[in-house]
Amino acid sequence: MNHDDAHFIAQFILARAFHIISSFSRFSILNLKLEAMATENIPSTQIGVLSTKTSQTLQTFPVPSPGPGEVLIQNVAVASNPKDWKVPLLIENYSAIEGNDVAGYIAKVGEGVTEYKGGERVAAFSRTRTLDSKYGAYAQYTVAAAATTFPIPQSNSFEEAATLPLAYGAYAQYTVAAAATTFPIPQSTSFEEAATLPLAVATAFIGLHKGLGIPEKSSGEQKGIIINGAMTSVGSYAVQLAKRAGLFVIGTAGSSKDYAKALGTDVIVDYREYKGEALESALIEAAKGKNVQYVYDVVSEDGSIVLLSRVLSKVSPNGKGKVTYVLTLTEDEQKQIPQGIETGRAGAGTAYGEDQEFAARFYRQIGQWLAASPPFKPNRAKVLPEGLASVPKGLELLRTGQVHGEKLVYRIADTPGLK
Ligand SMILES: NC(=O)c1ccc[n+]([C@@H]2O[C@H](COP(=O)([O-])OP(=O)(O)OC[C@H]3O[C@@H](n4cnc5c(N)ncnc54)[C@H](OP(=O)(O)O)[C@@H]3O)[C@@H](O)[C@H]2O)c1
Repeated sequence: MNHDDAHFIAQFILARAFHIISSFSRFSILNLKLEAMATENIPSTQIGVLSTKTSQTLQTFPVPSPGPGEVLIQNVAVASNPKDWKVPLLIENYSAIEGNDVAGYIAKVGEGVTEYKGGERVAAFSRTRTLDSKYGAYAQYTVAAAATTFPIPQSNSFEEAATLPLAYGAYAQYTVAAAATTFPIPQSTSFEEAATLPLAVATAFIGLHKGLGIPEKSSGEQKGIIINGAMTSVGSYAVQLAKRAGLFVIGTAGSSKDYAKALGTDVIVDYREYKGEALESALIEAAKGKNVQYVYDVVSEDGSIVLLSRVLSKVSPNGKGKVTYVLTLTEDEQKQIPQGIETGRAGAGTAYGEDQEFAARFYRQIGQWLAASPPFKPNRAKVLPEGLASVPKGLELLRTGQVHGEKLVYRIADTPGLK
């Protein structure tokens, strides 16, 4: 048993003891003592990765506290998404702890959270934007917990420091997430596997079931879907969910097409073999007679939304259908969408907005499917060697298109200088 395990077993036992004793009010003083003991092992500072437009550096930050409805997770493994290198480039003076995929142990729960106790194994999608009015930042004076207040170095301006979403970044030892977007993981799923799920799986289930409006269970009539990017992280989850919903799946994939097949894709079109009009023809051929009414474009680049809309208008039985995409449809592209084809963007962010209730239920469903037969499969995790110190390397691999059918994962304990 390593130190982390021993630490959390001790925390877990204390938390359970606290829970049992809580039912007897005459032990209230003892309650307070046990609660303090259950959380006293949380340090006041932690190591995290500060991302700016041009750098990612390991720095010391305070360990944040969970607010109402939130949990604090001690991370064991965290994972990268393409947004982690894209977002810093889009925002002026960006300076923040990036990342949103975490897996680890519940360290502390915020007010009103009854679902979790310290020591439980969970994965979570942390908040991607923190300019939330509940923290009252848009005022002359703001109240903040001492624990989440920290000195800023001379090299950072106040403007830069103000953009720091400290509590929610995944590239750190501890991360705060909403209890709603946190879900228990079974013993059979490793932390490394679990870390591949949160953001990408939400993009998949929100895109399919909210964006495209596909019922979760098949109505009997088999419909078809084209998933562009079946072996992207999001796509590999969309394929599995589409199969569970009873759909016939046509997917585009390249170097990992065998794995796309193994996950359930019925027909694969190799996007490296066909480009432009040839890709359009190959997709039309693959989709003929398959009652295709949906497209999930998980690539959304180089005119793919327009191309796929044309394909759908030709293969759908009545020329109608829906296309959901994950990036941007320009005004010019919008004009080229054939009549009868509805388009819309889907994103993981609505798991913290209008889709929160749906996402909370679906995350728990995914947690159960991980141990079901057949199991829901997390992405293949590629663990980079030096924990948080490998984050710059990981983001560079993503930015330069060197990640193929895998998810980049970092074990916190592999970070040099950390146990
Ligand atoms: N809106 C949102 O909330 C949201 C959420 C998540 C992701 N996204 C966006 O969705 C996209 C996918 O993200 P991800 O994390 O799932 O990606 P990813 O796993 O990093 O994607 C890598 C995979 O994409 C495949 N690929 C590259 N170009 C392709 C093409 N033209 N057609 C088919 N497959 C292609 C590659 O295939 P090979 O194996 O052949 O190299 C590779 O396996 C990114 O642009 C990301 O920013 C948006």
